[in-house]
Amino acid sequence: MIPFNKASITEKEIEYVVDAMKHSKLSGDGKYTMKVYEKLHELLGLENVLLTTSGTTALEMASLLIDLEPGDEVIVPSFTFSSTVNAFMLRRAKPIFCDIRRDNMNIDETKIEALITDKTKAIYTVDYAGVPCDYDVINDIAKRHNLIVIEDAAQAVGSYYKGRVCGTLGTFGCYSFHETKNYVMGEGGAIVLNDPSYLDRAEIIREKGTNRRQVLKGNVDKYTWHDIGSSFLPSDLLAALLYAQLERFDEIMEKRLTVWNTYAEELKCLEDEGLLKLSVVPEYAQHNGHMFNIILPTDEIRTRLVAELQKKGMNAYICYVPLHSAPMGLKLGYKPEECPVTEEYGAKVLRLPLYADMTREDALAVTDAVKEILRKG
Ligand SMILES: Cc1ncc(COP(=O)(O)O)c(C=O)c1O
Repeated sequence: MIPFNKASITEKEIEYVVDAMKHSKLSGDGKYTMKVYEKLHELLGLENVLLTTSGTTALEMASLLIDLEPGDEVIVPSFTFSSTVNAFMLRRAKPIFCDIRRDNMNIDETKIEALITDKTKAIYTVDYAGVPCDYDVINDIAKRHNLIVIEDAAQAVGSYYKGRVCGTLGTFGCYSFHETKNYVMGEGGAIVLNDPSYLDRAEIIREKGTNRRQVLKGNVDKYTWHDIGSSFLPSDLLAALLYAQLERFDEIMEKRLTVWNTYAEELKCLEDEGLLKLSVVPEYAQHNGHMFNIILPTDEIRTRLVAELQKKGMNAYICYVPLHSAPMGLKLGYKPEECPVTEEYGAKVLRLPLYADMTREDALAVTDAVKEILRKG
């Protein structure tokens, strides 16, 4: 059996979670949360980062912090997870869907400017498969039109754009540490505040609208209600799990990249034979091996490949169902033809199994199976 995904848990994760239960606070912002911040600083150079209960709530916090108002427009790819869009729709802002690039399925930066109106407030980018978008171009557009860039880096922890770490490429970066991501805490995430002027308000919004964090810092002796907010901080038990994962940062990264590189080397021949396409990692990017995508010629071939891999005990998954043509998108009045590349790729992209504890032999078994199935026609 080769599952699609499996978290890598060792004695270290178990030890730290048990230690947190015995010696730490069970609620948020305890010893392990602080250790996570130190580690994120050491590994990725992050200065102002706050753990959240999920990547979803990190995006929701960003949407609260930029004070979106009903009717504001947000430019966003349709080829993403519902959370990217729900986060600002909860503020009653309106998604303006932008099509994606054919080579790496990230937002097509050449199509952004035509979508800007006097109601546009922000661009929410998605670093799909851990590969960063072209931020020099996107930030230049944002600057010229006075827009805020929110980087959904849920999949891109440890990836780089021109030597700059993902999560730091917009005004806010949002990470996910969900069980399916590279570094896990079960359910969890983080918001990176690249403009420090947002930090004080972010701390308040994350703590149900109170200044409780100031009490922890010893700045005030009692906390009180200051703003709107919610319960966005995760239990220290989960931070303990994440801390163990971050201590294994390089090991997990190397293992994932071994699988990713094996797939890339072994499947190149099928691309040469015209049986599939591989996504392209741009020159400017250093990726984290989050996901391996293949693009099949048709939906039918994809369905057959998934079924036949399944019979061999290998789980491959389709990717996003485009948001603009999903049931909610249609209900809101969007039309499938608005984002033709997204629509086409939504039907053709397949993600192969990929997790840190997968061996090179497992990866070779998958590529052998893919070759056999696709060549048989
Ligand atoms: C692009 C993207 N954004 C946001 C999320 C939401 O993250 P979480 O599951 O931690 O809420 C995910 C998770 O699947 C994602 O892939």
